[in-house]
Amino acid sequence: MSIKVKGFLKDVGGASRVTALRKKSIETASAVPDPKDNIRAVADALHPAHMEFRVTEIREASPTSRIFRMVSTDGHIPVFQAGQYVNFRLRIGESELTRPYTISSAPCDARGEKGFIEVTIRRNRPYLVPDWFFANVTVGTVLQGNMPFGTFYYEPLRDSKNLVALAGGSGITPFYSMAREIAYGKMKGVHLTILYGSVHHSDIVLGQELAKVERDCPDVKVVHVLSGDEEWTGEKGFITKELIAKYIGEDPTVMFCGPVPMFKLVEKAAKELGLTCRRFRHDVMSQPADPTQIPGYPLKNKGKVFKLTVLRGIRSDVIDARGDEPVAVALERAAIPVDTHCRGGECGYCRSQLVQGDIFVSPIGDGRRLMDKEMGWFHACSAYPVSDLTIRIPIL
Ligand SMILES: Cc1cc2nc3c(=O)[nH]c(=O)nc-3n(C[C@H](O)[C@H](O)[C@H](O)COP(=O)(O)OP(=O)(O)OC[C@H]3O[C@@H](n4cnc5c(N)ncnc54)[C@H](O)[C@@H]3O)c2cc1C
Ligand code: FES
Repeated sequence: MSIKVKGFLKDVGGASRVTALRKKSIETASAVPDPKDNIRAVADALHPAHMEFRVTEIREASPTSRIFRMVSTDGHIPVFQAGQYVNFRLRIGESELTRPYTISSAPCDARGEKGFIEVTIRRNRPYLVPDWFFANVTVGTVLQGNMPFGTFYYEPLRDSKNLVALAGGSGITPFYSMAREIAYGKMKGVHLTILYGSVHHSDIVLGQELAKVERDCPDVKVVHVLSGDEEWTGEKGFITKELIAKYIGEDPTVMFCGPVPMFKLVEKAAKELGLTCRRFRHDVMSQPADPTQIPGYPLKNKGKVFKLTVLRGIRSDVIDARGDEPVAVALERAAIPVDTHCRGGECGYCRSQLVQGDIFVSPIGDGRRLMDKEMGWFHACSAYPVSDLTIRIPIL
């Protein structure tokens, strides 16, 4: 067998010229970042490090949830995909914290001079951040944050055009964004079926908005599944294997977004239906507010308070850290800046180094790399102190 090498000398000649040019660029490069660097300008436009959002409208999305429409104060909203989220940086009392909220409006809504984004926040019981939003955010309020983040979006090279969404509670927000984008004529050829589980009719978030998009767009179908509403005449009970099988169709991509207990049921059903990992995708799960729900959480830890020594560059602070709250929350309570995004252990933004002491790492969404596990790195949003600790965190 012979191998023909075409243009071999040309390739070698070209490569040596590139090497020489690269060497020259390195020798003449400055250690100071070039402010006119085009790649840097593109990266800043796609992912601004810091943005300000001015709230322009607030509407009810259900008796317990509100839609907050906002514009960027500099007029520029970065390109994003339906399903991605904005990360707000908030000051609440003494605490400095961040929270992710999915952009429930469509990417198309953000384009043009009057471009906006909307987030839909649910407050079906007392919560720290939703309570603060409902009590403090009015038209004109300016919020700090940045966007876009997350990988929970439709990817035409990977996903099927038969998209089946399984949603619970505020988990409807990424799918409403996708539904709107489809109604705008984007996501060509995609047909979206949403199975949306709620307890009672009054718990449905964005109910009227979903009904409108379904009326306007033949490629969007919404099926409400209610588990505790006697008067409901539609699908009743939970989202089971049988129910998914009824609506799933041929060659689907199934996407799930909702609370952890619902995920456990739906994941089992997906396995039984033979869906592969590629065809069953789910959003990141935040750690439960009550850590005793986490498998393996040491119950004796609840109620204990440990000393947490935080090293940042040459600075060292000693703060309190509760055994029933993630390390990131201790930092937030002490107003020590920590970069959290998914708050579920997956994205790695809150990666920190354990210098001394013991932690419990939640197995829910543990996205640490193998080498990180071995070298004592952990994700502060999903690790709980079980002794006094010394940690090193990046300076923000
Ligand atoms: C990717 C993603 C997208 C999301 N999208 C949406 C959405 O579209 N709509 C929506 O409604 N929700 C959404 N959420 C959930 C949302 O981010 C909030 O978690 C939710 O609104 C509940 O608010 P909370 O975290 O303050 O709740 P809480 O349960 O009240 O608080 C949780 C945490 O705050 C800590 N805490 C308590 N007091 C303090 C304090 N003083 N200082 C600092 N920390 C304290 C607690 O220890 C606990 O860990 C999304 C979550 C993720 C991960
Ligand atoms: S915020 Fe994503 S891993 Fe901690």
